Amino acid sequence: MCGIVGYVGESSAAPIIVEGLRRLEYRGYDSAGIAVHDGHGVQVVRALGKLRVLAKVLEDRPLAGTTGIGHTRWATHGRPSEENAHPHVAGPVAVVHNGIIENHRALRQELARAGVAFSSDTDTEIIAHLVHRELQAGAAGLLDAVRRAVARLSGAYAIAVLGRDEPGVIVAARQGSPLVIGCGEGEMLCGSDIPALLSHTQQMVFLEDGDVAELRAGGLRVLGADAKPALRPRRHIDWSPVMAERGGYKHFMLKEIHEQPEAVAATLRGRLDLDASSVHPSEIGLGPEAAGALRRVYLVACGTSFHAALVGRYWLESIAQVPTVVELGSEVRYRGALFFPDDLVVAVSQSGETADTIAAVQTAKAAGARVLAVANVLDSAIPRLAHGSLYTRAGPEIGVASTKCFTAQLAALLLLAVYLGRSRGVLPAERAAEILQALCEVPSQMHDLLGDADYVRAVATRLVHARHVLFLGRGLSFPIALEGALKLKEISYVHAEGYAAGEMKHGPIALIEPELPVVVICPQDAAYDKTLSNIQEVRAREGPVVALATKGDESMHDLSEHIIWIPRAPDVVLPLLTVVPLQLLAYYVADRKGHDVDQPRNLAKTVTVE
Ligand code: F6R
Repeated sequence: MCGIVGYVGESSAAPIIVEGLRRLEYRGYDSAGIAVHDGHGVQVVRALGKLRVLAKVLEDRPLAGTTGIGHTRWATHGRPSEENAHPHVAGPVAVVHNGIIENHRALRQELARAGVAFSSDTDTEIIAHLVHRELQAGAAGLLDAVRRAVARLSGAYAIAVLGRDEPGVIVAARQGSPLVIGCGEGEMLCGSDIPALLSHTQQMVFLEDGDVAELRAGGLRVLGADAKPALRPRRHIDWSPVMAERGGYKHFMLKEIHEQPEAVAATLRGRLDLDASSVHPSEIGLGPEAAGALRRVYLVACGTSFHAALVGRYWLESIAQVPTVVELGSEVRYRGALFFPDDLVVAVSQSGETADTIAAVQTAKAAGARVLAVANVLDSAIPRLAHGSLYTRAGPEIGVASTKCFTAQLAALLLLAVYLGRSRGVLPAERAAEILQALCEVPSQMHDLLGDADYVRAVATRLVHARHVLFLGRGLSFPIALEGALKLKEISYVHAEGYAAGEMKHGPIALIEPELPVVVICPQDAAYDKTLSNIQEVRAREGPVVALATKGDESMHDLSEHIIWIPRAPDVVLPLLTVVPLQLLAYYVADRKGHDVDQPRNLAKTVTVE
């Protein structure tokens, strides 16, 4: 969590840094701060609260200078406060940090014994003191001091450092946490992710774990983990700057919901051949022979990505006929999960940086399993760790609640299931063609669904005052019920539960009463009749029903208070469609309540702590 930005060039650094932080605020937003070298020394301004508070302070107290670093925080060590906000300063050094220093206690004690007085509760301040001490001990400049200091750290970090005696220099380092360098014309930037830098450059350098880099307006010098000069290639990123703008929408989340047709289409583009009924996911690094030899697929993920993985299991078992396990990243280690060399472990993660999923991947790799990443962020930690990647191509997702990345993950997982099914010789060409054809039609069906957004907004008014909402679905709609509930709770703060419709009678039915809205996903699919019975059970207990039903299903009128129509589509692709109105429903409830939809309380988009 936390976002960092650095700028060195010829322009005034502070506005550029604040602008970059604005794009990173989804990573944390309890306090923010900035340090700028004004040619004489390092000036620091910090503020408790969202970035706009810092921006206001800077209006009254502008910082001059063309080199600077900034930070937006999601508290881990020490409560949100101005003292704990970054940058942290020790002598001539200012540091911003994203990540967690695991040996911070021991280092803090050591520094305290040496007479250091701390002014915050953070683990970051320790880094500033370590760098300062290395300078005092005769390090050959800031780069060398940072290199020596980070050698003392264990845990995950991405840092950017300014030094009073080296104007025009930022030193950056990473281990486990993301850090991207942007190479502009006569300027150099660093940031926690690509969108923070896009308005300046599309030329990016991705640092490796253990790298320490010196950024100057005219160039970049990188030392690898072995302290030797390292060449890190520049890469052109084809995300355009406007992709990271709200583009007239009230919130990023709403924009991203509306971008789903393109996110799905882009994820499919160039990867399938309808005539040949085949899929070509060239980057997955798993040829047809290896695919045939698989004994099991093991999906690991967290949150919304876990729900995508749950849908993926249905597809992998029914289409590719491969036994499939799904596990939460955070549980893999603690239940002693078993992995085998003939497992394909698929790590599903929008950010590619989620600590729990990374830990699961490491466990699987240690057992010799092959790992495939399904991620949206190029070169992020999980694709780096994996043997192959199947990138979703949703473009930058800024809203904390994941939407377009979820449907792009579904598209990628369905492609994977078809690929494995064909490679293993268990999926006939005609069936593969039907599935791929249905998948290709999803973007335009999503488009139609989004055309009914105003109706969903009207239904949302029904839920605004609800204290609890139950979501039910069966088969492929069960994970979508979980996802609908998660979306609602995380941005509207309404308690919501997702349940397999068949489980209702085993407990949750006790909750049904006129004050409990029940959202039932009931398209005319293989589970239709059974789910219909569940709706009747809810109605018999006077529970108000909001039904997601197939267009033209007249029987639904007598059973539900509100009907949200879903286009008729083959069962296999329904999850990509049914989830869209549920995202809109959550959005409109939260917006009606006046919540900060893009930055819900207590959450951060990239969860780099376990
Ligand atoms: C919910 C949401 C989170 C993430 C989860 C995993 O809307 O976005 O539940 O899905 O934190 O994140 P990734 O996919 O980046 O691993």
